[in-house]
Parts: sequence; C-alpha cells; structure tokens
Amino acid sequence: MSRTPTADVLVVGGGIIGLVTAWRAAQRGCVTAVVDPEPGGGAAQVAAGMLAAVTELHHGEQTLLGLNLASARRYPDFVAELTELTGHDLGYRRCGTLAVALDTDDRAHLRELHALQARSGLESHWLSGRECRRLEPMLAPCVRGGLRVDGDHQIDPRRLSAALVAACERAGVVFHRAWAERLSVTGGRASGVVTGDGTALAAGQVVLAGGSLSGRLAGVPEHVLPPVRPVKGQVLRLTVPPRYAPFLHRTVRAVVRGSQVYLVPRENGELVVGATSEELGWDTTVTAGGVYELLRDAHELVPGITELPLTETRAGLRPGSPDNAPLLGPTELDGLLLATGHYRNGVLLTPVTGDALAHALTTGELPAEARPFTPRRFRAAALLEQPA
Ligand code: GLY
Repeated sequence: MSRTPTADVLVVGGGIIGLVTAWRAAQRGCVTAVVDPEPGGGAAQVAAGMLAAVTELHHGEQTLLGLNLASARRYPDFVAELTELTGHDLGYRRCGTLAVALDTDDRAHLRELHALQARSGLESHWLSGRECRRLEPMLAPCVRGGLRVDGDHQIDPRRLSAALVAACERAGVVFHRAWAERLSVTGGRASGVVTGDGTALAAGQVVLAGGSLSGRLAGVPEHVLPPVRPVKGQVLRLTVPPRYAPFLHRTVRAVVRGSQVYLVPRENGELVVGATSEELGWDTTVTAGGVYELLRDAHELVPGITELPLTETRAGLRPGSPDNAPLLGPTELDGLLLATGHYRNGVLLTPVTGDALAHALTTGELPAEARPFTPRRFRAAALLEQPA
C-alpha cells in the first residue's frame, strides 16, 4: 500500500461543504487535504441556490432557523471575501423572494406561514394578488395573495463551488482526486482514509463531508455512521432571451398540489425551476414525470415560461437527516468529525458550516450556535430508545 505525507486535516468530499471546511481550516493554519474524484461537483451543481431562511421556515424547525439566520447574516461578508480572493463573480443577488398562493387553501397555508414567521421575529409582508402582480407582472392572474420576503436572497451554487476550489488552492489545500473507500482507524482514533487505488492518506483529523454518501464510507464504526439518506431533487434550467428580460425580478415560489415549486432568476438570464423531492435511493434519473410536474406547476404560477428555451434538466441528491438539520462537529470516534446532513439548506449553511468546523478542528469544540447540531444528538436518542 502506498502512503502519502500526513495532513493535519483530511476532508472526505469536495462539494461546497467539504470545500468551505477545508478552506477555513487551511486559513487557520492546518495542513489540509481534500479527497474527492471531482472537487467542486456534488449537489451544488444542481441546486438553485436560494438563501431562503424565512420562506423555507417549517413548524418544529426553530432551532435550525437560528443556524440558518446566522449563516444568512454572514453571506455578504463571505461573498465579499471569496470574490476579493479569487476574482470570481458568485452571482449573489439580494433580490428577495415572493411566495404566492394560487387558491384559497394555499392562501390559508401562506397565512399560517406568515404568522409563524411573525412569531419567530422574521420580517415578511402580506400582499394581495394585485400587489403581487404589480411586483411581478408575469404572475398568473389567479394569484390570490403572497408574502414578500426581502431578506431571502440567492447565489449561483456552480460559481460558488468554483470559487471555493480556487480559494482552497490559494490557501494551499491539497486535492487527492480519488474516491475515499475506507476510513482508517488506529488505536481507537480516525487516522486517515484509503482511496480506491489503495493509497493510504494519513491525517490527524478526518472530516466526513460526503453529502448523501456520508453514511457509506467503509470502516466507520456503526455507532458514529451518520444517519443521512439521499433525497432526490430534479431541477430545470431555462433561458430568458434578452427580449423577455427582466422576466422575473426576484425568486417566486409556491406550493402547488402539495409540492414546492420555485423559479429563481439569475442576472445572466438563467431561470432555475425546482424541485422535486423523491425518496428513491441513489437514483439520479431525470424522468418525464418529474419534468412534467415542474413545468406544469411553474406554468400555473407564471404562464409565460412555456415560451422560454429549456436548456438543462438534472437531478441531484440532498443529504437528508432524521430531523432535517445538519450534523456538525466531533463524533464519538476521536479524530472523526462530520459536516453533512444539510438537506435543503446546504448552500445557505455553507458560511456557518465552514466557521463551525474550523473552530471545532482547532479547539475541539463547536461554537455555541452550532452545538445543537452535534452528531451526538442521534446517539443520545438511540440510547434512550433502547429497552432497559
Ligand atoms: N432548498 C431547495 C430545495 O432543497 O429544493
């Protein structure tokens, strides 16, 4: 077996979560490496990039809301730092979001969300259907009302990935372009990984940031294996020809027949339409049914989309966790940390995850805001469920 020099930190997974962790760790002086066959790939290549802490608020997720808001607050400085460092334009738009209702049931639903947002101290404004159409003239005449959320922005996740790869390179992060096959454990401590070609990569600490694949690394003891699962999302990309611009001014979203649909307009004319939510294992097939449902629902919201060229269809896998919140920080195996399970909020949670993991890697502890997301919460719950 060939051996490579030791890193202080080895990050398994080069998606945006692994990259931000590696970048922040390297900035704090850790000798850092990333193992991934294709750094900058992963779910961010499919994601729409909504930074939607307020419009994606759900009952029972108030703890997650705190982390989402902490990350949203960091976004302007995070983008400025990455842009200055790499020269990349990240497609960050502080354009706001409009969540609309198409019928009376939707309106009741949205009213409830509005009340929950108000109870949570969040800013959102109720608009009549007419006021919604004044803001977004392409909306269907049947829109019954909506919520204007000026604080929910967007970024282009593909550009974010590319910028994070560049930032890592500048910070001296080493990329091993290979699959991590097995975690190495020496003397009861995580000590590196073995890659598909048999190379042993040694490290003082290992961060498992493999998105929906994080639960599949061989050699991870059962009791610390992250309980993540893939949740498929099919996403479409359309193009707004200059003669139709601006087609939409902000992200527009709704729940149609119980499914979320959102339209995210980029400054460069791309219009992202997402997303299905399917529990089908590691299947990433784009299906006729998925595309049909997205176009049907998006067309109900914004009838004019049928005029636009459809330029891409793709499916990605969100890393779902049992409580829809991420798993961050040290595990019960010394030397092994997790940064996974971000589910619907991976792009939004990128800045706070990088900071929390860098803190944990250099001090051994999570910062206060990230402590509720310790992977140990699931272990404690499992022990409580065991018969006495
Ligand atoms: N946050 C959007 C999605 O997961 O589809």
